[in-house]
Amino acid sequence: MPIGVLVVYAALAVWVGLLVFGLWRGACGTFLGFGVAFLLALNARYAIEGAAQSIAFFIGIYDVPDNFGVSDPASAHALATCAQNQCSVWGDKFVYHPSWGTAFYDRFAHGPEFRTVLLYGHIAGNTLAFVLMMVQLFRPGNGPNPALHRLLGYVSLAALTVGVGGACILASEHGGIVDYGGYFSVLGFWFMSLCVYSCAIIGIFRIRARDFAAHRIWMFRYAGSMWGSFWLFRVMLFALGPLLSGYNALALQICIWFSAPFGILIAELIRRRLDARAGAPTYDDVLPIGALTR
Ligand code: HEM
Repeated sequence: MPIGVLVVYAALAVWVGLLVFGLWRGACGTFLGFGVAFLLALNARYAIEGAAQSIAFFIGIYDVPDNFGVSDPASAHALATCAQNQCSVWGDKFVYHPSWGTAFYDRFAHGPEFRTVLLYGHIAGNTLAFVLMMVQLFRPGNGPNPALHRLLGYVSLAALTVGVGGACILASEHGGIVDYGGYFSVLGFWFMSLCVYSCAIIGIFRIRARDFAAHRIWMFRYAGSMWGSFWLFRVMLFALGPLLSGYNALALQICIWFSAPFGILIAELIRRRLDARAGAPTYDDVLPIGALTR
């Protein structure tokens, strides 16, 4: 019994509780903080256990809904087997796994070393950028230490460049991977990268032009694209996998193409709500995201 996967389910349940409680109170700081800590715990696995074992753990999270969500796993087009059933932490409990998962495991358990280096670069770069992004939103440049905000902004951009660059190179290999969706996966991950990187870059150009209000707007959008491409992606895949098990790669494709834009949309709605609470905003009196926690 993989205890770690059960801990992930328990953490997900607590997280949903925090979301409901936060929405009811009108303050989602605890929900956001929990999401960042949860992300760190999941991604740190790659540094501790290596790629193959961490991917088997990741697939283990999806094995349960994907197998229990279909009446006959053997006939579901989006489920597949893998060599010696090693691609999941569930051992003999599940023989069928999401087909994207078996392909994902195969790519890194049996692929060239450089591919794994790219994955580590992607995970490390984007995880650092994600954490710094939250620090920046809670301590904006009109706060007590604008110089630190500026410095962390450039460190964050460097980390993001490594993370997104690694993702684009990894995605360029997906053309022949039917279980990912082939060239739809290449284009989809490039589109996701464009959503994330363009929001960040526009935000930086805006602040260099001293347009503080637009900088804040684009950095909210950037944060939405990052939350979307990490969390929304994984949560959507959890729900869509069993629902679309009759169509190979469809659930994955929906997550690839829609998670970042949905994230941007949600962030935009949150920002507008904050601004409405604050009245007509100027840079000096707009609320940082921290207002959500009060
Ligand atoms: C810019 C948007 C993103 C793109 C285009 C992207 C793309 C990818 C790709 C292509 C893979 C590997 C699939 C393969 O080549 O077989 C991957 C895996 C992964 N990515 Fe991303 N990603 C993005 C955002 C993020 C963010 C924001 C994080 C972390 C904060 C992240 C963390 C991971 C992790 C941990 C994995 C391994 C699977 C897992 O254990 O969750 N990614 N991503």
